[in-house]
Amino acid sequence: MTDSPESSLTVRRIRADEWELVRSLRLAATADPDAGIAFLETHESASAHPEEFWVTRTEDAALSETVAQFLAVSDGDVVGTASVLVRATGQRDHLGRIVDDRRADVVGVYVDPAGRGTGAIDALLAAAGAWVATLGLREIHLDVHRDNLRAQGAYRRAGFAPTGETLTGPIGPELVMAKRLA
Ligand SMILES: CC(C)(COP(=O)(O)OP(=O)(O)OC[C@H]1O[C@@H](n2cnc3c(N)ncnc32)[C@H](O)[C@@H]1OP(=O)(O)O)[C@@H](O)C(=O)NCCC(=O)NCCS
Repeated sequence: MTDSPESSLTVRRIRADEWELVRSLRLAATADPDAGIAFLETHESASAHPEEFWVTRTEDAALSETVAQFLAVSDGDVVGTASVLVRATGQRDHLGRIVDDRRADVVGVYVDPAGRGTGAIDALLAAAGAWVATLGLREIHLDVHRDNLRAQGAYRRAGFAPTGETLTGPIGPELVMAKRLA
């Protein structure tokens, strides 16, 4: 668990039995006004998944060494989430690209409007980075839409910088950002 110095904010990994929370966060995220420049999945598609999908996703996110979902909790309320996907060399990523070197990507980043500007995103990214470092990786990546300036601002503040790589995926033009881990 990671504590933010400025507030009572804490970050923890999702627990294996919290599938309803994982689902409600995803449904809230995909209903956000900025969802079209933030998430590959639509709200309609997320709403259609059966319970088993969420149960399996949550167990993986809680226990796996290749995926982890983190929650930001403020005064007992979950205010945000971010996940990390680790892909082995030669695997395909979420856009079908072959991974050259084992790498970790932050995905599914969402902070509830009430938690924005509170440091929740910084705490989530710090927890994600710390987890990735425990796996022996020295860098953490993410893709962000060219027009998602708020997300880019938050990532920059957290130490991410554009790698120069760009791509056009299902949500349009994106840029890749990365951060070296201590
Ligand atoms: C992206 C998200 C997680 C960021 O968290 P947040 O708490 O809103 O971020 P913060 O307010 O702490 O930081 C945003 C930064 O961008 C800046 N910013 C905000 N709007 C901006 C804009 N339109 N243009 C440029 N910069 C902007 C802010 O000033 C701040 O930077 P600063 O601290 O250097 O001043 C949150 O807004 C969110 O969940 N958005 C919807 C989903 C989403 O976009 N997810 C990311 C997918 S990649």
